[in-house]
Amino acid sequence: MRAHLGCFLLLSLLLIGAVSGQRRKPVKPTKKPPPTLLEPKEPTDFPPPILGPPSIYPDCPSECFCPPGFPNALYCDSRNLRKIPTIPSRTHYLYLQNNYIDEVTEQPFINATELKWVNLDNNRIRRVERQVFENLPNLLFLYMERNNLKEVPSDLPPNLEQLRLSRNQISKIPPGVFNKMEHLALLDLHHNKLSDSNLGKNIFKGLKNLVQLNLAHNILRKMPLNVPHNIYQLYLDRNNIQDIPEDYFKAFPNLAFVRLNYNQLTDKGVPKTVFNISTLLDLHLAHNKLSNIPVFNLGLEHLYLNNNNIEKINGTEICPFQVMSVDLSNEDLLPRLRYLRLDGNELKPPIPLDLIMCFRHLKSIVI
Ligand SMILES: *[C@@H]1O[C@H](CO)[C@@H](O)[C@H](O)[C@H]1NC(C)=O
Ligand SMILES: *[C@@H]1O[C@H](CO)[C@@H](O)[C@H](O)[C@H]1NC(C)=O
Ligand SMILES: *[C@@H]1O[C@H](CO)[C@@H](O)[C@H](O)[C@H]1NC(C)=O
Repeated sequence: MRAHLGCFLLLSLLLIGAVSGQRRKPVKPTKKPPPTLLEPKEPTDFPPPILGPPSIYPDCPSECFCPPGFPNALYCDSRNLRKIPTIPSRTHYLYLQNNYIDEVTEQPFINATELKWVNLDNNRIRRVERQVFENLPNLLFLYMERNNLKEVPSDLPPNLEQLRLSRNQISKIPPGVFNKMEHLALLDLHHNKLSDSNLGKNIFKGLKNLVQLNLAHNILRKMPLNVPHNIYQLYLDRNNIQDIPEDYFKAFPNLAFVRLNYNQLTDKGVPKTVFNISTLLDLHLAHNKLSNIPVFNLGLEHLYLNNNNIEKINGTEICPFQVMSVDLSNEDLLPRLRYLRLDGNELKPPIPLDLIMCFRHLKSIVI
């Protein structure tokens, strides 16, 4: 018991130290310096393509670099390309990021059936011809972040595992595009223009193995419907979500990471026990309008509640067990919470004693 108390006193001192050490200073919005290099707008402004070095491979496109001794890789990135060159059939890894490519057509890919990984990030792509990717049965990773797509491309390869389409202008998901993609594990659509009506009832149907869904930075007002059951990470930051249906998270037996920072959540829109999910490890609710701390489970490790309207905190009430009724030497029964952010609320130090009594694993708390 004495050892316990000693530990506990040390912990509280550490915590108070952590608090004074970590109190956030108000951050002034810093003005970004103007970019020194203007992004060219017109195709006539694009700098000329840069040719690759001479190659030992006769089929190496002149715009690209074919590393000797690594025939499966083709580097055509950052070469001011307007068009995709003809891809040799031996290519597994294709790097086309940071160019001025504005469409993806079938011709260059006709023999490239071995492709596993295609990176087209940071181009000007607005159009993907139908059936380009459909004929690539080995494609596992497709990256098209930072382009000008207005919809999710149709005819995606059936074996794809990762699809990254963030930072486009996507406001449409054609019905059925994901229907056959049962190997897809990661779908990243953050920073687009998706609204509730674009996420129809069956849109994610078929994504049986999806573990990460990122819909952050869109214009959703509601929690997305029919998210696949195996989801592990669900990211919805920076939308306009106001409320969460009572049983919303009950459908997901593996859910561990939930991010809802920068939404419009209020106490009224958040049912009291909606986040009491036994598998949850990491919960982000910063920059909302909550005034109460929602109920959470024993297993939660990280909780972000900074920048809400919380005025008081009662450690006894939020403790996931009754301190008096539990054998405190049994580690398994103690709450796992290690990191708690409460800064940017109406709270003032010191940290209530009952909070520290309850959360014995807390390493850092910011008020
Ligand atoms: C595709 O491969 C076939 C057979 O190897 C070859 O004859 C043809 O020229 C190739 N097409 C292109 C566009 O490279
Ligand atoms: C939270 O869930 C646990 C089961 O994981 C349950 O025992 C507990 O009573 C729930 N808490 C509340 C306040 O509903
Ligand atoms: C915290 O809540 C408990 C149980 O509801 C109550 O008995 C206690 O007085 C509260 N503590 C404070 C400081 O308000």
